[in-house]
Amino acid sequence: MLNEIGLIGLGVMGKNIALNIAEKGTHIKAFNNSSEKIDAVGKEFDNTFTGFTDLEVLIDNLERPRNILLMIPSGEPTHSVINLLADLLDEGDVIIDAGNSFYLESVSHGNILSSKSINFIGMGVSGGEEGARHGPAIMVGSDNNLNDELVELLCAVSAKAPDDCIGFYKGFGSGHFIKMVHNGIEYAEMQLITEAYYLLKHAEYSNIEIAEFFESLKEINQSSYLIEITSDILRKKDGNDYILDLIKPFANNKGTGKLTIETSFELGVSAPSIYAAYDARVQSNAGDSWREDKKLGEKSGLKVDPSYKRVISETYLSKSLYFGRLAAMVQGLKIIEKYSHVNKLSVSFSDIFKNWSGGCIIRSQMLRELLEIDKQSDNFLNSESLHNLLKENLSVVKDVVSSSLLSNISVPVLSSSLSWYLNLSSNSNPSNLIQAQRDYFGSHTVQLLDSEEYVHIDWRKNE
Ligand code: 6PG
Repeated sequence: MLNEIGLIGLGVMGKNIALNIAEKGTHIKAFNNSSEKIDAVGKEFDNTFTGFTDLEVLIDNLERPRNILLMIPSGEPTHSVINLLADLLDEGDVIIDAGNSFYLESVSHGNILSSKSINFIGMGVSGGEEGARHGPAIMVGSDNNLNDELVELLCAVSAKAPDDCIGFYKGFGSGHFIKMVHNGIEYAEMQLITEAYYLLKHAEYSNIEIAEFFESLKEINQSSYLIEITSDILRKKDGNDYILDLIKPFANNKGTGKLTIETSFELGVSAPSIYAAYDARVQSNAGDSWREDKKLGEKSGLKVDPSYKRVISETYLSKSLYFGRLAAMVQGLKIIEKYSHVNKLSVSFSDIFKNWSGGCIIRSQMLRELLEIDKQSDNFLNSESLHNLLKENLSVVKDVVSSSLLSNISVPVLSSSLSWYLNLSSNSNPSNLIQAQRDYFGSHTVQLLDSEEYVHIDWRKNE
């Protein structure tokens, strides 16, 4: 195990992962320009923490080859600290960026540092404060050889399920890429749970009854961390009020899901469930709505027609929730598959499922199920077993989506997931007309059924 590690970033995540690391016997040498901050954080350690308010003094106090962990906001803060360290460190030292950096920034950082023979690791860390303290899922990306003691420490720090929830991926940006996709799937799972909650709320379920519905999913192997915390959230009261009912109906984001979508566009991979989840957050902030009143249900511009209640049974909802979650997972894995192909990485889905099986926000019983399918198939995404998991829930999902929409209830991720599946499992699609329209107004040419070449049709000429 490493004797010591440098740390820059004493926010919630930085402090908690440092406590986790210190527990493993590695001494923390942390920089912060506030001595008060250092004193406050240091009190939580048992002589395993030394603070420095001068970065150069910290660097001089680290034995070589130095290992320095960054847990700071992504973007400019991370970029400027890495630039600063690049001039202070020596050949063979290691910078580990454990923030939520965009993967292309990590590629750039890795390449710049390589030119100075400084090693770089772009490391996705998932699990929030609790995960950082007691065991996150860790996604490690680097083109450098990692020293054994650092690998040993990262494995020890990671969550167990029961194997280490850590993945090692080739490529400076690959750890952050896989973390980014994790977050895209996280957005979709959060929104799907919210859509189920919304349907039950409209069916006059109480918060407790909705919590009991989510808790019942565990018995059918369809629970997850996000589903479990949703039950806790539904039950939380302040006096006689449920806190959830006192929260305004809009959602913010730090952009991690948005980056997943933008990247899916760049890679040309369809991820409508993930897009719909991000868009639902954007729409929740749209002031220019046609609603007369922002309160849930009553006085909304469109009345909720109770006819949908006939199909909103808990069985129907659990199957729909599972279908949507699986659709989002498959879309996320297709993004990773394309990234792996483009970068010639051969990322293994089994590694991903093990990596996400504990500690991370999307940890779930489903991931264990998918790991078993992957072990038994030589092409997971085209496997019959995976397809059957979607197909067997199709008729219920069609009922739930159509009834919701007929009742004026928006279910963006569930309806996007259904439409995506129907299109990909149909034996035709109407895009021949798109080709024709593009050729008509832009002479972009068309490819006819019996040929590989592209030809322009003179649409205005009457034969
Ligand atoms: C995790 C989370 C975390 C995420 C924040 C903010 O894996 O621990 O995904 O990294 O960035 O929860 O997420 P938003 O993008 O919703 O702000």
